[in-house]
Amino acid sequence: MPSTYVVTGASRGLGLEFIKQLAEKGNTVFACARNPGNADKLKQLVDDKHVFAIKLDTTDPESIKSAAEEVSKHAPQGIDVLINNAGIGGGNSKSPETLLEEDLTTIFQTNVVGVSNVTKAFLPLLQKRGQEHVKKILNISSILGSIELINQVSPTGSQPAYNISKAALNMYVKMLSNNLAKENFIVYSSHPGWVRTDLGGESAPVEAEDSIKGQLAKLESATAKDNGGFFDFQGKALPW
Ligand SMILES: NC(=O)c1ccc[n+]([C@@H]2O[C@H](COP(=O)([O-])OP(=O)(O)OC[C@H]3O[C@@H](n4cnc5c(N)ncnc54)[C@H](OP(=O)(O)O)[C@@H]3O)[C@@H](O)[C@H]2O)c1
Repeated sequence: MPSTYVVTGASRGLGLEFIKQLAEKGNTVFACARNPGNADKLKQLVDDKHVFAIKLDTTDPESIKSAAEEVSKHAPQGIDVLINNAGIGGGNSKSPETLLEEDLTTIFQTNVVGVSNVTKAFLPLLQKRGQEHVKKILNISSILGSIELINQVSPTGSQPAYNISKAALNMYVKMLSNNLAKENFIVYSSHPGWVRTDLGGESAPVEAEDSIKGQLAKLESATAKDNGGFFDFQGKALPW
């Protein structure tokens, strides 16, 4: 059955592919982007009937508030799913010993504070669907945020600020999932794979199309037992 989705970071990469595949399935999609006017590939998907472009910078509280108000005008009945996808990597820190404060604060602002603020703003629209209805919040994390797996995937921590931000995001997701379970929410973290996007780089082995296909299969089939979990793009459970 078609549902109503809000996706952040929809201008390019995984976010754009989420919009494409969700629209192809006949869903109503609010594609949130910092600068939707400059996002040419996104503009091609927008029809203002089922796919809407919404201006939203996840680090700007005013922008988040305006975006939630605009979505609420188009979807007065509420939304079914929030996908917290917007995220950044980068920075100059190459090890935890040399971690730069500015990298930590900048990356945290988007990957943790942004997700928390966006979720707070859109929660009332999800709750509007009522207790009987299953609501979902999918949070795009990374295997680099798994404390248990870090020794296998990046033992020296070459992107320390990013890894720490995704571990913090996972803790946020876990606590949120505990508290929202009683309201019939399913909240979990997803590792999209190492995907060929601007962030993942040219050598990444996974195509965005395959990552999103797998993540949507998991999202659509997720039930209460998946609440508070961490899964890769093929639906395999990952340790925190
Ligand atoms: N690619 C991978 O291999 C990989 C692996 C693990 C996890 N992830 C996670 O997957 C998510 C998507 O990554 P990606 O590979 O698609 O990265 P990407 O190609 O760099 O795209 C990032 C997206 O996030 C948006 N964004 C960044 N900061 C934002 C802000 N403050 N407000 C609104 N939008 C913002 C960007 O918008 P602009 O166009 O405006 O910059 C862009 O749409 C991220 O959370 C990332 O950490 C990716």
